Amino acid sequence: MKILIFGNGYIGNRCKDVWGDEAVVSTAHVHSKHDALDEIRKHQPEVVLNAAGVKGHPNVDWCEDHQIETIAGNTMMPILLAQACADAGVYLLHMGSGCIFYGDSPHEDRAWREEDFGNPAPVYSRCKWAADLVLSTLPHVGIARIRMPIDWKPAGGNLIDKLATYPKIIDVENSVTIIDDMISVFHQLLEKKATGIFHVTNPGTMKHRELMGLYKELVDPAHTCEWISNEELVTQGLAKKGRSNNFLANTRLAQFGITMRPVQEALRDTIQKYAEAKKAL
Ligand SMILES: NC(=O)c1ccc[n+]([C@@H]2O[C@H](COP(=O)([O-])OP(=O)(O)OC[C@H]3O[C@@H](n4cnc5c(N)ncnc54)[C@H](OP(=O)(O)O)[C@@H]3O)[C@@H](O)[C@H]2O)c1
Repeated sequence: MKILIFGNGYIGNRCKDVWGDEAVVSTAHVHSKHDALDEIRKHQPEVVLNAAGVKGHPNVDWCEDHQIETIAGNTMMPILLAQACADAGVYLLHMGSGCIFYGDSPHEDRAWREEDFGNPAPVYSRCKWAADLVLSTLPHVGIARIRMPIDWKPAGGNLIDKLATYPKIIDVENSVTIIDDMISVFHQLLEKKATGIFHVTNPGTMKHRELMGLYKELVDPAHTCEWISNEELVTQGLAKKGRSNNFLANTRLAQFGITMRPVQEALRDTIQKYAEAKKAL
């Protein structure tokens, strides 16, 4: 399978690392359908992964007053890419975000399903949700929503590295995505040209306290932090808008025979590998 990846960033390159010669990462910035079509014609892929997007620097708070750039990168660019893929007759797997859901779902188990409507207020999440709303109507597009990536490879976008540098951490519980499992799921979705929305999160939920407990046990026994509530993140001036915390039900992957490891099993394995990778640095 020849895969063309748009988005020369953290996740695009993590996928390329694993997929090797099967994949090419485009370095092009897409501002029109033709920009995307030029790349598709040049590389002649069988399938396309959209791992491009605007997350803001240093974080999504940047998007709150850079609305046009955020809309262009997270809503318009995916639509342009979907148009180009339709013209070229190529399947597109678009990376969405589970951060379009805030709080508990209306379901008894409190978990959000793939077909549930998002309820985001922040600009970043609204733009991601807008792309999902329209792209999910297309017959050649799949949408893979991830949440809080956890990786054995140290990186700025890795939740382990992020939390380890915060002096104050919010005491919350969430669905999360283990990167090794995600890369394997993406490959399977691309192979199957699976359409519709997929929650690419490991079964179960994880508390930040569990992650930091394993970090202390396996990576840095001297690590300390202060625990605060999600509300205190904003009232203490550490973020402009409250962050999304939620549980995602990953129901559609099973329909395609795709599984992910339970989160606690994958988490320990990942932090063990992360500790080894840190020692080797
Ligand atoms: N990492 C997470 O925590 C997370 C969670 C949920 C969902 N996601 C989604 O996953 C995707 C990848 O995230 P990531 O962590 O890999 O982000 P990243 O490291 O910031 O990479 C995104 C890449 O997209 C590029 N890009 C932006 N606009 C573009 C355009 N118009 N055309 C082509 N490339 C463009 C950026 O280039 P420049 O830097 O040069 O602008 C950057 O290289 C994003 O859609 C994000 O919303 C990520």
